[in-house]
Amino acid sequence: MPSALPDGEPVPASGALPEAALAELGQRPFGVYVHVPFCVTRCGYCDFNTYVDREIGGSGLQATYAETAVAEVRLARAVLGDRAPRVDTVFVGGGTPTLLPPEDLGAVLRAIDDAFGLAPGAEVTTEANPDSVDAEYLRRLRGEGFTRVSFGMQSAVPHVLAVLDRTHTPGRPQAAVAEAFAAGFEQVSLDLIYGSPGESDEDWARSLHAAVDAGPTHVSAYALIVEEGTRLGRQVARGELPAPDDDVLADRYLMADEALAGLGWYEVSNWGEPCRHNVGYWRGGDWWGVGPGAHSHVGGVRWWNVKHPAAYAAKLAQEQSPGAGREVLTDEDRRVERVLLEVRLREGLPLDLLRPAGRAAAQRFAADGLLQLAGERAALTLRGRLLADAVVRELVD
Ligand SMILES: C[S@@+](CC[C@H](N)C(=O)[O-])C[C@H]1O[C@@H](n2cnc3c(N)ncnc32)[C@H](O)[C@@H]1O
Ligand code: SF4
Repeated sequence: MPSALPDGEPVPASGALPEAALAELGQRPFGVYVHVPFCVTRCGYCDFNTYVDREIGGSGLQATYAETAVAEVRLARAVLGDRAPRVDTVFVGGGTPTLLPPEDLGAVLRAIDDAFGLAPGAEVTTEANPDSVDAEYLRRLRGEGFTRVSFGMQSAVPHVLAVLDRTHTPGRPQAAVAEAFAAGFEQVSLDLIYGSPGESDEDWARSLHAAVDAGPTHVSAYALIVEEGTRLGRQVARGELPAPDDDVLADRYLMADEALAGLGWYEVSNWGEPCRHNVGYWRGGDWWGVGPGAHSHVGGVRWWNVKHPAAYAAKLAQEQSPGAGREVLTDEDRRVERVLLEVRLREGLPLDLLRPAGRAAAQRFAADGLLQLAGERAALTLRGRLLADAVVRELVD
């Protein structure tokens, strides 16, 4: 979730949602996302809404963050009312959620359970930086009810970790995977980034094999995005570092798909046992996003919170919604979103989501070997996954 916020109409101080949106509750899985906006250091490539000590140190915002997030959970329950569904998935992301004590993360999870009820077998994930946890931390986190943990590994190669400003040592993510399984986590994921400046094919192969050898249930592999306004963005703009090359990125993607074949792809950048929470996003589900800058979607209304943790805490202290803006999606907006997201999933999208121009494009892509048409669905082939952005641009017409 890049940190820039869109424009939109104002959110009422109570956070109230239109009746038409509330009426859709229960039709789709319901998730809660909790954003934890703190990091020890900022990685040069990262545009997420996160703050280091130098920016907010001494403010007490981190120490009181769990209480503030709990206040938003209670507001969410009041806004959704008695039609609020049980929660199928919780995802705590960052930032670095594991900078908070496990008991603080557990307190937010209990507040979600008290307010909504967790569905039986709910998936409860947190992201974690590999060097922000140890075996004891992971045992306590498991004890708080977390079932899934996702570690930001990024690479196994020292010079790539250095160019990304990562603070962990090579080997630490793999050790963290073993500690998480020993602590009783059901699912463990590793995030990788490819195409970093100075990374060779051999470096990427090393990272992939190190990730697979650690035995996670899930791997995400994303091409490095050079975000404007980041340190990396400035280094690339000044010509000090090369921008990732499209052909190199395509080759690296093919290497990833081959190395991760044992896990099996289910979304263009994800392999293994699906993250149900993220699948909810890709299938147009409903979710409440707790935390500064967090985005939510309920029944065709999308809104986002104020960005700064101090402004966020101040709104909740006044018992007001921290919502900064919102948009009510039209039926056409929702159709376009479904096409954009569902085509990225292995099962693809139903052809009846497409209008005549999109259907004609689907036929052309099928003839070119980029899409596979089966029954009334269209799914990306391996070559199609390499060109997913171009394919989707024409399917939405
Ligand atoms: C924002 S981080 C939060 C988790 C944790 N702080 C970490 O870094 O491991 C979530 C994931 O987003 C991915 N990510 C962040 N910025 C990115 C960028 N500019 N390009 C590609 N992937 C990025 C990284 O793989 C990272 O693991
Ligand atoms: S640790 Fe994660 S969230 Fe924090 S700056 Fe680095 S990539 Fe971004």
